Amino acid sequence: MKALSGKKILLGVTGGIAAYKAVEIASRLRKAGAEVHVIMTKAATSFVTELTFREITGQPVNTSMWDKVTNYNVEHIALANLADLVLIAPATANLLAKAAAGMADDMLTTTLLATKAPVIMAPAMNTNMYENPVTQDNIATLKRRGVMIIEPAAGHLACGAEGRGRLPEPADIVDYVCAYMGRTQNLAGRKIIVTAGGTIEPLDPVRYLGNHSTGKMGFAVAEALASRGAQVTLVAGPTFLKDPDAANIHTVRVESARQMREAVLSEYDSADGVIMSAAVADYRPQTVAPEKIKKSDDELVLHLVRNPDILWELGQKKQQQILVGFAAETCNVAEYACRKLAKKNLDFIVANDVSAKDAGFAVDNNRVQLYFRDGRSENYPLMSKRQLADIIVDKLETLLK
Ligand code: CTP
Repeated sequence: MKALSGKKILLGVTGGIAAYKAVEIASRLRKAGAEVHVIMTKAATSFVTELTFREITGQPVNTSMWDKVTNYNVEHIALANLADLVLIAPATANLLAKAAAGMADDMLTTTLLATKAPVIMAPAMNTNMYENPVTQDNIATLKRRGVMIIEPAAGHLACGAEGRGRLPEPADIVDYVCAYMGRTQNLAGRKIIVTAGGTIEPLDPVRYLGNHSTGKMGFAVAEALASRGAQVTLVAGPTFLKDPDAANIHTVRVESARQMREAVLSEYDSADGVIMSAAVADYRPQTVAPEKIKKSDDELVLHLVRNPDILWELGQKKQQQILVGFAAETCNVAEYACRKLAKKNLDFIVANDVSAKDAGFAVDNNRVQLYFRDGRSENYPLMSKRQLADIIVDKLETLLK
């Protein structure tokens, strides 16, 4: 089987001199087995013709939102939905700026905004344009949102300058795509449990004790696992997030820590790994009032009792399972995280400082350190939760080998 058999790749071509290299990229993608759909910006058509791509891909080529209608699907939505991957090569400074700003003023940018597929961009431009802080900021923004960037090569540019900005060789770009898509089945046959969100502990029929966790991190991890073929049981506390669409994610909704424990333990023996990203409540009210608690003039004192520590229990029962914990701390991050790693018998722990405004609870980004059983640690910069999910899954995959 070829590396990209059965995969649909949307190739976006923008208007830079390197647009001619996109012809070879399309051809190589096709030889690797992919069905290739091309969208060209208007500027790109000044460098290469639409006909060239149509001949190479055997598919109609889109250049405008206002082309004659060939079918009655809304075209940019249809293309956005069908793609397994979007590759933009070359990506001009203009395209990077529009994508970073979320603009949608042509077929390519509109499709980009509508797609949920992973996106790879290969910037190519004059060195000064590439090094301009505004372009670098746009690239950083796109990376933070999960766009994968293939760094341009250094060398002699068409404008006569020497420096960074050249589109890498088509073969290298297609290798990158194949490597990314090849990961897709690395976890086939593996069963992984992921917990997400916070638990809530009822106080009376209308009130509960809870925390700020939204479940975004755990859902991102479940999606990253599923995209590599794992069978995922996602045990989620109350969250506004919808069940993920992937057929290989089974979502189990729970409310309290004790329900989460039940759900996790019932799948544990046959699991290859558990990623506990949930913020489990350590305590619950000793009694749940059967009726709504009425206020009085006195103070209200709640008596709280300990909840089970799910991850600690998993650590005690551990056989073949790889165990991954999270440590949300507000101070002494390294020390507390390493203590939890040892105490709960984990393979690694993902630690973050939740007092930071731009990372952690309820936002799309996270900045973490990983601490491993063998004493190693790794520091990561601020990145999207989806990107971080891929890193966590990379580590799990290595440990499972
Ligand atoms: N955890 C768990 N069961 C609990 C509490 C936590 O399984 N009752 C898991 C979390 O999902 C996380 C890890 O243990 O992966 C660490 O959670 P955290 O709340 O940071 O640590 P605690 O062990 O509860 O310690 P403390 O709250 O004192 O920091």
